[in-house]
Amino acid sequence: MSSHTVSQSPQPYFDVLIAGSGGAGLSLALHLADSYQVAVLAKFELTECSTFYAQGGISAVFDDQHDSIESHIEDTLIAGAGLCDQEIVRLTVSKGRQSIEWLRTQGVSFTEEKGENGKKQLHLNREGGHSHRRIVHSDDATGKAVSLSLIDRAKAHPNITLLAYHNVVELITAEKLGETEQRIKGAYVFDCKTGKTRAIGAKIVVLATGGANKVYLYSTNPHISSGDGIALAWRAGCRVSNMEFMQFHPTCLYHPSARSFLISEAVRGEGGRLILPNGERFMRRYDARMELAPRDIVARAIDSEIKKHGIDCVYLDISHQSREFIQKHFPTIYLQCLELDIDISQQPIPVVPAAHYTCGGVVTDSHARTDIPGLYAVGEVACTGLHGANRMASNSLLECLVFAEQANQDIRRCIDDIPLPGRLPEWDESQVSDSDEEVVISHNWDELRRFMWDYVGIVRTNKRLERAMNRLELLKVEIAEYYGRFRISSDLLELRNLVIVAELIIRCAQQRKESRGLHYTKDYPETDHHNPPQNTILIPEKKFKS
Ligand code: FAD
Ligand code: SIN
Repeated sequence: MSSHTVSQSPQPYFDVLIAGSGGAGLSLALHLADSYQVAVLAKFELTECSTFYAQGGISAVFDDQHDSIESHIEDTLIAGAGLCDQEIVRLTVSKGRQSIEWLRTQGVSFTEEKGENGKKQLHLNREGGHSHRRIVHSDDATGKAVSLSLIDRAKAHPNITLLAYHNVVELITAEKLGETEQRIKGAYVFDCKTGKTRAIGAKIVVLATGGANKVYLYSTNPHISSGDGIALAWRAGCRVSNMEFMQFHPTCLYHPSARSFLISEAVRGEGGRLILPNGERFMRRYDARMELAPRDIVARAIDSEIKKHGIDCVYLDISHQSREFIQKHFPTIYLQCLELDIDISQQPIPVVPAAHYTCGGVVTDSHARTDIPGLYAVGEVACTGLHGANRMASNSLLECLVFAEQANQDIRRCIDDIPLPGRLPEWDESQVSDSDEEVVISHNWDELRRFMWDYVGIVRTNKRLERAMNRLELLKVEIAEYYGRFRISSDLLELRNLVIVAELIIRCAQQRKESRGLHYTKDYPETDHHNPPQNTILIPEKKFKS
């Protein structure tokens, strides 16, 4: 690994440095940009993030006649299986309508319908765990609508600098620079196009880096979801929590040419039925809510049927709806499947569960503050307490929006009192060389994702977790050695982060001696109802006082 040197060339500085161009990062940037210079970094294209691929929508109470904030809170708490932070749930849910209105001011348009009074109103979808229709959406490509509008706004703003292909390698803290009072100072950022790493100074750094779902072989996520923010915060000394609660979406398209394509839960919300190859509707054997049971239950049921019958996939059938209905409600899914010769108005869709959402993450408070002063975490990277042991559908984009606004308020309160970071030591590559063994990275990446899928997936056991940990120890040593010797690349950075995230997941899973929410283990198949539910909080060896 590189040591750090001081150079004389000008060093970039921003008031606020945000890693992540998804819903969380861009919302926060747009809130702050009237008063502050903000940089937004993305590892690849700005659109390459989970936000862009979100389908179903954003949960918010708009139907005052049938729905209520209390009902949305209750559904969220039930899905979260005893581990939600009730105050955070109330805070988030009660800001649903306001968050949607804000997105509309940013140019996002949502699907509407004519109400009973003849006036236009938002069309609301229904998804698993929700007892009412409350999912605001833009057809079945909500994330694309949100992402493109926010990027447009950010591009047009004179105080926002967008830096695509810039990868945060490491956070720079006062402690790392030998100062006594802990505070964030900036970050080392790898320019993926030039291959150079430089220090960027900032009063505030925000991790909005998304989830860690690429730690699994099969995932609905784009490839940027390698848990970088969680690993960065952990290495810098922040607590990480609840990493055992990795959510598997029940219905990812099963097709060799489209491995990460999601079939939205909204399809089940409109009556989609899960069936076996013989046509049996198997969910009736698992839960009274059938296909609209919370995701953990549906994903486990599918996993169990696949294993029991030795089949590759199950099927989701919406063909009882008319072609017109399907084209109107699910245009993206309809076309994507048709391109693969699956006409979903005529035939069932082959589906399997796949890693989808990281409920755990960097521990944050109600204003998105982490354990390090000046360092915030917003969006999927954070563990706010909203999701508990299982996230309810469409609560994630809502969380991104609400906590971007919470962070905005807090940053405005404190930023003027924060001293400038001063000149930071530059990244020094003089001790490393070019690698001639890149196969090590691809091999280790593949091995890691495979054993995480096999041993730390939907159903776990003590033995499997132990096996995974043994393999992980070997990989850790190999990757650390490689990182110490060779010049960095995007793949190496991601692998280095993924291996940390994998360890955090396994450690959390090993600590939980019960099954709860998304964590299911055959060794403790019951939920512990004798003791109060506990979060699994991991503390880095070097933990700094905030
Ligand atoms: P992301 O949108 O994932 O953005 C992460 C950003 O961080 C990217 O720009 C990335 O380049 C950047 N980044 C990562 N690491 C680094 C680094 N080291 N340096 C610099 N930049 C970095 N949720 C809902 O509520 N409703 C839905 O309908 C819905 N549908 C979904 C469908 C799919 C297919 C998927 C994958 C997820 C869906 N989710 C949905 C979940 C939701 O989309 C995500 O949780 C949410 O978008 C996360 O937003 P984010 O801003 O935290 O992260
Ligand atoms: C979906 O459309 O099924 C995804 C919704 C979500 O992950 O919240």
